[in-house]
Amino acid sequence: MKEIIILGIETSCDETGVAIYSSTRGLLAEQLFSQIALHAKYGGVVPEIAARDHSRRLISLVDKTIKQSGCTQQDITAVAYTAGPGLAGALFVGACFAQALAMGWQRPAIAVHHMEGHLLSPLMEGSIDASSHVACPFLALLVSGGHTQLILVKTIGHYELIGDTLDDAAGEAFDKVAKLLDLPYPGGPAVAQLADQATRDNHYNFPRPLLNREGYDFSFSGLKTAVRQQVEQLKNTNVFDETQRAAIAASFQAAVVETLIKKTLKAAMDHQVQSIVVSGGVGANRRLRQDLSAHALSKGIIVHFPPLHHCTDNGAMIAFAGYHRYRLGDFEADNRAVEVFPRWALPSNTSPHNTFSYHTEADAT
Ligand code: KG4
Ligand code: ZN
Repeated sequence: MKEIIILGIETSCDETGVAIYSSTRGLLAEQLFSQIALHAKYGGVVPEIAARDHSRRLISLVDKTIKQSGCTQQDITAVAYTAGPGLAGALFVGACFAQALAMGWQRPAIAVHHMEGHLLSPLMEGSIDASSHVACPFLALLVSGGHTQLILVKTIGHYELIGDTLDDAAGEAFDKVAKLLDLPYPGGPAVAQLADQATRDNHYNFPRPLLNREGYDFSFSGLKTAVRQQVEQLKNTNVFDETQRAAIAASFQAAVVETLIKKTLKAAMDHQVQSIVVSGGVGANRRLRQDLSAHALSKGIIVHFPPLHHCTDNGAMIAFAGYHRYRLGDFEADNRAVEVFPRWALPSNTSPHNTFSYHTEADAT
């Protein structure tokens, strides 16, 4: 079988990621520049700063990635880039860059959905054909700063959204609670670290939202409000010390993790899948990794996580998803339009212009 080599470019938010994936040899090279330090002093991502920094980094990151891979530009089959969802300006930088490279190299440019990148990333690891290790159908839990979704993956490219957040995403809740606890951006790792200092998980019994409701939707804004009220109460009574901060972090983390686990396992059992994959930044949470794996195993379900450095945004997942778009022929080889889709929904007709299609439930049958 002819080797397909994809250069992937990710610029949807605050990481500039570049990678090269080979259909026969796996991931050949990857480079990542995280802008966390640039945004930290503002307490969150500043879109204009993000876009400018992507354009500053891309040339040297692509250059380094190609050298590291041992490939030449002639070896590269296509250039894949994140076309959405994400920050419009940041996406534009990656789209322009990828389209220009692809035009110069006379190769197709492939628009990739950022969440499909996350969703497929656990399949990439460990083997050149890791997809065979996770049998379809499987359930994907996507937990990032902007998304909390349960997606039934019938085959690669056939997705059905079965659960979504009604308000805040899980990562967003971590980030907001971090601010309440005076922790730096990004909040997730900081809250998790503080939680480790607590002596027990449920000092505060925060709500587990929607657990008793039918279906698989999530809601985290009420939980965040409960945390805010608790913090205010502690501050008013002057007992907002290190021990209390750790207790709040641990109790909040326990509430999020338990909610994610219960909904995910219910969806997995109801749909009779054998495998769950978890990805997105919150997938780096140690507590979620340990507890979900243990609970799922007790029901005979295996959970697959990407390694920690592939949970958060990276170029490898875009190269890998781009490979699958290429393999399925789901791209427009001569499309040189620089277009981005900041609010691009994955399962319900994710195709920005119906130029290529992620199949919906109806299409799959
Ligand atoms: O997937 P990602 O890198 O970017 C988006 O596409 O959103 O996810 C970033 C999110 C942030 O909200 C961050 O606080 C959260 O993932 N995060 C974590 C952890 N590491 C990152 N949340 C909980 N525990 C962690 N260890
Ligand atoms: Zn992401």
